[in-house]
Amino acid sequence: MKKSVVVAATIALSGLFGQALADEQLEIGKKIYERAFGRGCGTCHDIASNPQLTALIKGGQLDRARFEQVLREGKGGMPKAVGEIMKQKAVEKAGYSEEQAIEALYKYLESK
Ligand code: HEC
Repeated sequence: MKKSVVVAATIALSGLFGQALADEQLEIGKKIYERAFGRGCGTCHDIASNPQLTALIKGGQLDRARFEQVLREGKGGMPKAVGEIMKQKAVEKAGYSEEQAIEALYKYLESK
C-alpha cells in the first residue's frame, strides 16, 4: 500500500518535471526565434517570399538534420546562425549546448 503510494507520487512528479522541461525548451526556442540577429528569424522568415519554416517542418520538407546544417553553414541569403543563437541570454542562462539550443528552436517551430 505505502509502496504503491510512493510509486504513484514518483510517476506524477516525474510527469510534471518532464512537462516543465518541455515548456522551458519551447520558451527558449521562442526567444531564439524572436531575438536572434536582433530582430529575430521572423524578420526574414515571416515574409512570404522566404522559406516558411513551420510549414516546411510540418510538411516533412525540412528535417532536423537539414535544419541544423543550414544553421551551421548558412545558405544563399541565409546567414550562419549558430553563433548568433548561442549569444542569446535565454540560451546562456539555461546552459544549453549548441545541440540543445538547435533542438529547442526546431521544437518551437514544429509547435507553432
Ligand atoms: C537576413 C534574413 C534571414 C534571417 C535573419 C534568417 N534567415 Fe533563414 N533564410 C533566409 C533566406 C533568404 C533563406 C533561403 C536561402 C536559400 O534557399 O538560398 C533562408 C533559409 C533558411 C533555412 C533553410 C530552409 C530550406 O528549406 O532550405 C532554414 C532552416 C533557416 N533559414 C532558418 C533560420 C533560422 C532558424 C533563423 C533565425 C536563427 C533564420 N533562418 C534567420 C533568410 C534569413
